[in-house]
Amino acid sequence: MGTTATDAAFTEQPQITRADLPGFPADIEIGMIWAQTTDGVIGDGADMPWYLPEDLKHFQQSTLGTPVVMGRVSWEALDPRFRPLPGRDNHVITRDATYDAPGGTVHTSLPDAVLAAGRSAVGTGASTVWILGGGHVYRQCVPVTDRVVVTEIACGAPDRFQVYAPDMRAEPGFTTHDGPWLTSGRGTALTGEDPLRYRICEFTRDNS
Ligand SMILES: NC(=O)c1ccc[n+]([C@@H]2O[C@H](COP(=O)([O-])OP(=O)(O)OC[C@H]3O[C@@H](n4cnc5c(N)ncnc54)[C@H](OP(=O)(O)O)[C@@H]3O)[C@@H](O)[C@H]2O)c1
Repeated sequence: MGTTATDAAFTEQPQITRADLPGFPADIEIGMIWAQTTDGVIGDGADMPWYLPEDLKHFQQSTLGTPVVMGRVSWEALDPRFRPLPGRDNHVITRDATYDAPGGTVHTSLPDAVLAAGRSAVGTGASTVWILGGGHVYRQCVPVTDRVVVTEIACGAPDRFQVYAPDMRAEPGFTTHDGPWLTSGRGTALTGEDPLRYRICEFTRDNS
């Protein structure tokens, strides 16, 4: 069996810019959405170090009916029962042109994926294209994003969780709005914080 792109380690890629997205519709917002620990941890490559039903509901409400773009690792990390994410046009990025993502559209270029999602938004009347991660894809997309919605969860993570989100508080050119701290009813964290507290923070590009 030959080596496929998905066997090869993925190294950090350059960030994309608006110049990489010619013709992206001006009235469609590019958003990114994730949940993280206070230290910025979003996963371990397959899982997350918390269970927070309030955030699952928030994610669903925010993204339903929109085109979504995600890396191959995040696609594979989705629960197979919700892959493709229902009610959303799923776009998956991989270096492997032969990759099969049943129910999703495969792209070998991140700009191509975002452009296709933009066309899909126009076609369906959605106002936002959501970038769904993971860490590699979020970092590449910071320069093109209009808005970032982050659920900050007041918990830690075991050492094996080494996938991080971009630090939006260190990014210039965004206005921050921190929502109030809330207490989860049924949420749990692997590091044991109980009750689990969280807040929803928004980072909006200043010139958008
Ligand atoms: N907490 C949250 O809200 C949240 C949200 C999303 C994801 N996550 C977590 O994040 C983790 C995954 O993140 P990750 O950073 O490891 O992986 P990722 O960003 O989901 O996927 C990386 C893969 O996407 C493909 N890719 C990325 N950029 C590309 C480009 N420019 N051109 C071609 N292919 C490209 C490559 O796939 P190939 O190797 O196939 O070429 C690469 O290996 C999982 O644990 C997931 O659960 C958490």
